[in-house]
Amino acid sequence: MDTKKIVLLASGSGSNVENIVNYFSDNKSITVSAVLTNKRDAQVLDRCNRLNIDALYFNRHAYVKSDCVLNILKGLNPDLIVLAGFLWKIPEKIIDTFPNKIINIHPALLPKYGGKGMYGMHVHNSVKENNEKETGITIHYVNANYDEGAFITQVKTRITKADSSEDIANKVHKLEYEYFPKVIEELLSK
Ligand code: GAR
Repeated sequence: MDTKKIVLLASGSGSNVENIVNYFSDNKSITVSAVLTNKRDAQVLDRCNRLNIDALYFNRHAYVKSDCVLNILKGLNPDLIVLAGFLWKIPEKIIDTFPNKIINIHPALLPKYGGKGMYGMHVHNSVKENNEKETGITIHYVNANYDEGAFITQVKTRITKADSSEDIANKVHKLEYEYFPKVIEELLSK
């Protein structure tokens, strides 16, 4: 049986990366091959050290100007590239090389609260300021525009006036931990 390979891209804390790595740790048919980050001091690198997962840092030159990151991805030959809190736009050359193989998680119900600059607490603060009654997660394919690829799934959670932005973030993270690995598993089982 062929083992399906996931490559994770992350820019921050990496709690989703850790959750995904743990979820698949005993799975013989799906494996996390490597984690790539664009932030030299990202906490995700510490998590990868602790989890014994291959991790690489790359700069913008390797990502956009040269084909270094593209060639690393080609070499890893992933069945799925998963953006788990990754904040740079994906260059077209990478999208074209991996059609329908790149997915992202967004911490809100797109098309609301999406686009450039809308990530992490910026999203949850805006949701709070607008007195939204619900928020959630959107898992979607990645195309050349931020947060605009076809939806795979959305899951909602209710929020109350008493919820702070941090409470909203916690509710969304809970959904991410529950649903993101399952969606990845489903996509790779097709
Ligand atoms: C996650 O909530 C993810 O949805 C969000 O960044 C967070 C990363 O958390 N992604 C975006 O905002 C993308 N626009 P983590 O590093 O703890 O997994």
